[in-house]
Amino acid sequence: MESKLFTPFQLGPITLRNRTIRSAAFENMCYNNRPSEDLYNYHTSVAKGGIGMTTIAYAAVNKSGVSFDGQLWMREEILPELKRLTDAIHAQGAKASIQLGHCGNMTHFYTCGCMPVGASSGFNLYSPTLVRGLKVEEIKNLVKDFGKAVDMCRTAGFDCVEIHAGHGYLISQFISPYTNHRRDEYGGSLDNRMRFMREVLAEVMEHAKDDMAVVVKTNMYDGFKSGMQLPDCITVAKEIEKAGVHAIVLSAGFVSKAPMAVMRGAMPLKTLAHYMNPWKFWWLKAALGLVGRMMIPTVPFQETYFLEDAKKFRAELKLPLIYVGGVVSRANCETVLDSGFELIQMARVLVHDPEFVNKMKEADENYRSGCKHSNYCIGRMYTLEMRCHHCVNNLPKKIQKEIEKAEATL
Ligand SMILES: Cc1cc2nc3c(=O)[nH]c(=O)nc-3n(C[C@H](O)[C@H](O)[C@H](O)COP(=O)(O)O)c2cc1C
Ligand code: SF4
Repeated sequence: MESKLFTPFQLGPITLRNRTIRSAAFENMCYNNRPSEDLYNYHTSVAKGGIGMTTIAYAAVNKSGVSFDGQLWMREEILPELKRLTDAIHAQGAKASIQLGHCGNMTHFYTCGCMPVGASSGFNLYSPTLVRGLKVEEIKNLVKDFGKAVDMCRTAGFDCVEIHAGHGYLISQFISPYTNHRRDEYGGSLDNRMRFMREVLAEVMEHAKDDMAVVVKTNMYDGFKSGMQLPDCITVAKEIEKAGVHAIVLSAGFVSKAPMAVMRGAMPLKTLAHYMNPWKFWWLKAALGLVGRMMIPTVPFQETYFLEDAKKFRAELKLPLIYVGGVVSRANCETVLDSGFELIQMARVLVHDPEFVNKMKEADENYRSGCKHSNYCIGRMYTLEMRCHHCVNNLPKKIQKEIEKAEATL
């Protein structure tokens, strides 16, 4: 059978030159919440490296949804800088996508400038912070913010928006019984818990009109007992399909409770603590040293780790599906496409080497990335701009050792 990997794909109103997408992986390169030269250089290099479409990670639709100082926050004043970036991506023959979301309870007063808001009031240990449950009129305004963000993405030259409905961010906080304890029409039954997502997607589709592609990233499970499980997540995916979006990205995990269910492997705790600002995050640094592994348990990594679960969604859905999770080789790509998925997202192999796609195209079917899933890039990304350890000189010995240990266990 002829490989589909390097054949074009029609994603709603846009055509991708091949089946590969750079997955949204937070760059922490938007210093003061605006695009930087680092962001420009990284995504331009991925586009030059042969990707079908590259996704700028996790832009907040308003200020209360920002969880990092180095994260994009959509507003008019940054559109010319974003346009320069999308022009450069297009000049390399790739399409440009941007992930839109709201972090909900996963922020802090110092970062978002207000008391963090979520589906319900409570305490989020992750930040740590008290959280205020959103009022209904605030929910309605937030839905509108998603629409306005889509308009801004069009002005900035994006071909596609990816709505983040997974990983325990705001939409996912509404869907999950772990974080949604509301007693109104946005809480209780699964149908009610999906209401916010439904309203957001209706608004997004209206603003995307017929010239922008819309993709939704959703969970196949939250990754812990009191969270969402696979059968209910299939119901959520069907609801997303009903909204008329052009494709779904199937992921899993909940950053404030089961973060490594998203990416697998071990969180590099020494790296994480080393880079953390001791003045701002003294409590987290202390907690990581004492109970870090308990707070962030390791989830074993294996190549294409979501494939078996993703196939269960494939069997239930008709729209195009985008596979993500542990793709490291040409052989993995072929397996995923042969399993009925239309597109493939990749994050770490493109952090490791932005030219992965072109190299895969030129090499034989045995071509494999050199990324060995030490997850150094993840530990670093919480504080500094995203980089693979291969691009960092003079790493402290303890970090070097941590990387070597993680690579040896795979
Ligand atoms: C450094 C880093 C940052 C990430 N940030 C995001 C993010 O902002 N939004 C998101 O949906 N997923 C994020 N992810 C998850 C990836 O998009 C992807 O789902 C996951 O890494 C599995 O793909 P991979 O095995 O190809 O790396 C991040 C992953 C990494 C490694
Ligand atoms: S730091 Fe490790 S996990 Fe991240 S891209 Fe590099 S090799 Fe892969």
